[in-house]
Amino acid sequence: MIPLVDLHAQYLGIKNEIDKAVQDCISQSHFIKGEAVSRFENAFAEYVGSKHCVGCGNGTDALEIILKSLGIGPGDEVIVPALSWISTAESVNNVGAEPVFADVKLNTYTIDPEKLEKLISRRTKAIIPVHLYGLPAEMDEIMSFSAKHKLFVVEDCAQAHGAVYKGKKIGTFGIASAFSFFPTKNLGAYGDAGAIITDDIDISQKARKIANHGQLLTKHIHDLTGRNSRLDTIQAAVLEVKLKHLDKWNGDRIRLAKQYMLRLKELDNYSLPFIPSERTHVFHLFAVRLERREDLISVFNKNGIGWSVHYPTPLPHLGAYKYKNHNYGDFPVAEKICKEIISLPLFPELTEDQLNIICDTIIENN
Ligand SMILES: Cc1ncc(COP(=O)(O)O)c(C=O)c1O
Repeated sequence: MIPLVDLHAQYLGIKNEIDKAVQDCISQSHFIKGEAVSRFENAFAEYVGSKHCVGCGNGTDALEIILKSLGIGPGDEVIVPALSWISTAESVNNVGAEPVFADVKLNTYTIDPEKLEKLISRRTKAIIPVHLYGLPAEMDEIMSFSAKHKLFVVEDCAQAHGAVYKGKKIGTFGIASAFSFFPTKNLGAYGDAGAIITDDIDISQKARKIANHGQLLTKHIHDLTGRNSRLDTIQAAVLEVKLKHLDKWNGDRIRLAKQYMLRLKELDNYSLPFIPSERTHVFHLFAVRLERREDLISVFNKNGIGWSVHYPTPLPHLGAYKYKNHNYGDFPVAEKICKEIISLPLFPELTEDQLNIICDTIIENN
């Protein structure tokens, strides 16, 4: 069996550090707002290259809390890509605003700047580009479009910790950025966790209040109604350990992705990941496209090779968005990608032997 992702292999590589960090938390027994939380927040803000980091419960909450901190709510619209995990759009609904879907580009899978102009209305307040699969979105075009229309840019960085666009880490372009530390992410906790990154002190303070029942520094002073979405101390301790390894792990992902591309480049029925110049793709996923995806799935199933489809349905065609009355044909690129995309096993501990077995299996059965 070659799994899609092997979190246990990663744990074995850092077992001593993790066990000690978790044991220290338990010994100190400050399970909420323990020291590891602010230590990790500071380290992660520094890693991304931003002034403030506010830990929270998960990446979906990070998006929602940012939107709420920006005052986005009922009557407002937020442009989101038609291809993403549902959180990107769901967070907009959850603050009472309306997601407006934009199609994506066929080569990068990220939001298509050329499709944005026609989506603008008087209600449009923000755009959420997603750095999908680990590749930075077209930030120059998105930033100038947003400046022209006075929109907030909120980056969804859930899949791209450490990715770089023109020399700058993603997460530093928008007014604020959301990170997920779901266990399988490039930087993953041992449960749910997330963070908000921003250079804006007001947004960071408002976000911290919202994530902590509207309290900031003083207990029982609630300036606004918030929620309970704090970064757990044990998760922060795990993330603090793992952050030190992130660049090495991203390097391993990139090395393995290059090897995949070298081995599969002769297969002309496969569309391999495209990396535009001046962007570092951190390969959260190694996603390829092929018309006869079902054939590959049965080969993988027969040979014990893991796979997954990210994602089988464009967001506007999910049942949750039926109320918007979109038809097939409205998002032709996202629709095509959803029919053809498949993620191959990729994680830093994948061995070259395993990668070669996967490639041999693909080539022999093509
Ligand atoms: C693109 C994207 N946005 C947001 C999220 C939400 O993160 P979480 O699962 O931590 O809520 C995810 C996680 O799966 C994601 O992939």
